[in-house]
Amino acid sequence: MEISRRNFLAGVGGLVAVSHLPSLADDPSVFPERGRFERLMLAYQHVSAGAAAPFSILHISDTHLTEAYPDEADAEAKLKSRERRIRTFGGRQEEALRDSLAWAKQNVDYVLHTGDLIDWQSQANFDLVRKYYGEAMFGSMGNHEFYTYLPDEKITGLESFKERSWPLLKAAYPVDPRFHAQVVNGVDFICLDNVFGTVQPDQVEKFKAETKKGLPIVLCMHVPFHTDLIWRTSMQFWRGVNRKYRNAAIPDPSGDYKCQKEDPVTRDFIAYLKDERLLKAVLAGHLHITVQDRFSPTAMQYVIGGNFGFVGQEILFT
Ligand SMILES: [Fe+2]
Repeated sequence: MEISRRNFLAGVGGLVAVSHLPSLADDPSVFPERGRFERLMLAYQHVSAGAAAPFSILHISDTHLTEAYPDEADAEAKLKSRERRIRTFGGRQEEALRDSLAWAKQNVDYVLHTGDLIDWQSQANFDLVRKYYGEAMFGSMGNHEFYTYLPDEKITGLESFKERSWPLLKAAYPVDPRFHAQVVNGVDFICLDNVFGTVQPDQVEKFKAETKKGLPIVLCMHVPFHTDLIWRTSMQFWRGVNRKYRNAAIPDPSGDYKCQKEDPVTRDFIAYLKDERLLKAVLAGHLHITVQDRFSPTAMQYVIGGNFGFVGQEILFT
């Protein structure tokens, strides 16, 4: 019998038990005639970066965990958010993450998560972050890592909005949520926070300091540095139904793309990156669609769709 989240919870009587949900990959009634991980929707990429030895990662993004304890602060509001957002993301997000990580354990060397691992801040969600964000998983923040969804919240999209969240995120995530770099087989993975589309001067400075190592670089962040193609594809998806494109025109930049064209620090950083020959790939999420485009002469940009839908990509680095 398939164990649904609802009857599993009813059976054991508490949210605490959610973390013990079986991965459906272990349930013989799921895809009984096919592979254990058949439910994962994986894309495959190859980045020729000049690694000291070949290795591979699972890149996932936008899991949007929606858990809350019945006895945590603001529980009533958080449980309401849980109910509402499960309707958006399907309620199988933790299973998707568990399947992804179980698959990764057997098939790749590292997991990279490019943000929106949680849908909003709650004690239960942060406990899941601590549980899953281990020594082999690293990554960047998403915009949802900064949200509470409490009734008085006013999301501004400004850097100042993030201030109240830094202590919480630093406590929950084992990496510096604003900027961190991790070298794997001679390839420098630089993860930075750009969740409102832009980067800040100190992050640019730190990035340029990293280049002094002379290693090939993979830039990892939540919001893609939009190209016309990625922008058009995103608009096509998010504008909803009955918006079939009848020509190939690029929609006017708005939102993140406009910010990236107009914010001087971000605009200059993107221009600099396009000339930075150490840059070998850009990995991002946020759009909930899988799309790729050339970013610079030396780097492709790979945007991965939402992990809440069991999506991920294996990237081989050589
Ligand atoms: Fe997301």
